[in-house]
Amino acid sequence: MTLLPWSERFKLGIPAVDHEHEELIDLINTLHDQLGKEPPKEEVLGFLEEINAKINAHFALEEKVMRGLHYDELGAHKGDHEELLDGIRDIMDRAETAPFADLEADLAAQLKTWFGTHFATKDARLHHFLEEQGIDEETFVRENPNA
Ligand SMILES: [Fe+2]
Ligand SMILES: [Fe+2]
Repeated sequence: MTLLPWSERFKLGIPAVDHEHEELIDLINTLHDQLGKEPPKEEVLGFLEEINAKINAHFALEEKVMRGLHYDELGAHKGDHEELLDGIRDIMDRAETAPFADLEADLAAQLKTWFGTHFATKDARLHHFLEEQGIDEETFVRENPNA
């Protein structure tokens, strides 16, 4: 069963960011499905490496966008990102020894934190900021052709 189905509400209006949100959810859902089949540990670790790398890149992109916009809550948003990165590193450490059932629970909890709490607060605030500045998807792409 899908851990977290994709929803339009996970979009900020910045195509590259939105695409990554979709990819991340997809990747975590796939790992969750795989865990149910009890895959070899190396496979699980490989997945976690990939999720970790993608999340690192995603946060870097969001932070670049926020810097470009002179976003007023960059510091707080970045701080939240650091905590989320600690969370995935904890899961990676635990993956060495934890049973799959524990990992599944960890992953579900982490996903809830990322796409429940972080998205509903920090990313939503950024979305709201963009709207207030009158920056829609089209404007953003026109003004940031390389983003
Ligand atoms: Fe974020
Ligand atoms: Fe994000």
